[in-house]
Amino acid sequence: MLALDKLLIEGSSKLEGEITVSGAKNAAVAVIPAAILVEGKCIIENIPKIKDVYLILDMLKQLGANIHYIDNSTVEIDCSNINNHTAPYDMVVKMRASYYLVGALLGRFSKAEVAFPGGCNFGVRPIDQHIKGFEALGAKVEIEHGVIYAQVKRFEGTQIYMDVVSVGATINVMLAAVRAEGTTIIENAAKEPHIVDVANFLNAMGANIKGAGTDVIKIIGVNKLGGGTYCIIPDQIEAGTFMIAAAAAGGDVLVKNVIPKHMESITAKLIEMNAQVTEYDDAIRVVRKDKLIRANVKTLPYPGFPTDLQPVITIPLSVASGTSIVTEGVWDSRFQYIDELKRMGVDIKVEGRAAVVEGVKRLSGAPVKATDLRAGAAMVIAGIIAEGTTEIHDLMHIDRGYENLEKKLSSIGARIKRTSQGTVL
Ligand code: EPZ
Repeated sequence: MLALDKLLIEGSSKLEGEITVSGAKNAAVAVIPAAILVEGKCIIENIPKIKDVYLILDMLKQLGANIHYIDNSTVEIDCSNINNHTAPYDMVVKMRASYYLVGALLGRFSKAEVAFPGGCNFGVRPIDQHIKGFEALGAKVEIEHGVIYAQVKRFEGTQIYMDVVSVGATINVMLAAVRAEGTTIIENAAKEPHIVDVANFLNAMGANIKGAGTDVIKIIGVNKLGGGTYCIIPDQIEAGTFMIAAAAAGGDVLVKNVIPKHMESITAKLIEMNAQVTEYDDAIRVVRKDKLIRANVKTLPYPGFPTDLQPVITIPLSVASGTSIVTEGVWDSRFQYIDELKRMGVDIKVEGRAAVVEGVKRLSGAPVKATDLRAGAAMVIAGIIAEGTTEIHDLMHIDRGYENLEKKLSSIGARIKRTSQGTVL
């Protein structure tokens, strides 16, 4: 059964006040399967309350893990008694991060059978670098009938050069190598904050990983990981979404529970666009009073401007003075959302991996569909700044990755409410 909720947004709002960022989705969806490698109780704090987290926790439960919430953002996971290395299609199809089950199950049981993962559609989403890493460690990997079969007789540390900078492949190889014999070196590793978070979690459980956050990660295999407590970092993309929302709508917003260092590419871009951004120890204030100015944005792996904020930054650019070029440097196809935005008066043309955005005077509210998670967030911001009423449909994408987005934004002045149109079977 599918609930047909929609968001109704009355536009032309300014944003003012304080807003607090939750734990990082993309860290949580990797740390939770990483707990499979741990024989003991892991207490994980600052877990975001989002669908993707509930899904991955459910996958672990189905594999035999004991899971219970200590409070609404702290969960205890005990995978000591898991003895199943199979994750079928029904279990994994709903989210991309289920590919971490391959690395984690392989690392723990030397065997994994995991159906091909699902997730947002940005064109081709290959996993060749994950497989290359597992094979370099000695695993035999086959894909048959939509299932990834991987097994290894003896995991041996090795040197792996990633042909592509990949978040998922870096984390997955780290998971598989944590309990291998000897030392594994991942070169050309991704450097995103959640890679450091997964390494810190594993180290807190007894692993020996050095260099996470640089492009060379060294993993010295250990025999066993015991339990412990770990707190997930704040969500860089949620924080960036709020910073960009403040700049788009105008006003004065203090974004709390952030690591300002993670936000540098966004801070720099918003200053270029005429917002004032002030960094504190664990908060960032965005003030925007004057007209937004055009800017070019190119998305890149961290520390570049994040691809996950590409649809979001397009909204303030769409009402800035002048012409901006937004270039997608990570995914082949991440502009599918623009046809929906055009309904709201955004003037945008896409040529391959670049979009040319002509600033317009105002956007106008319209019914739109959230085509994926971050495009959904972009449409919410478009609705906040547009004249009139915007209706956003297909909220399942937004609910996958943002905790209470409409409640948080309402608390700083947005006029959003969720309404239910019933259910379909
Ligand atoms: C992670 O996806 C994030 N998802 C994505 O966020 C994010 O867009 C992406 O990293 C890039 O930052 C999670 O962390 C769960 P990649 P991932 O492997 O790991 C190519 C969101 O909105 N590639 O870093 O799947 C690939 O085609 C989501 O929260 C290969 O060629 O991304 C892409 O062009 C959406 N071979 C590039 O690398 C591979 O084996 C980066 O992909 C793997 C990837």
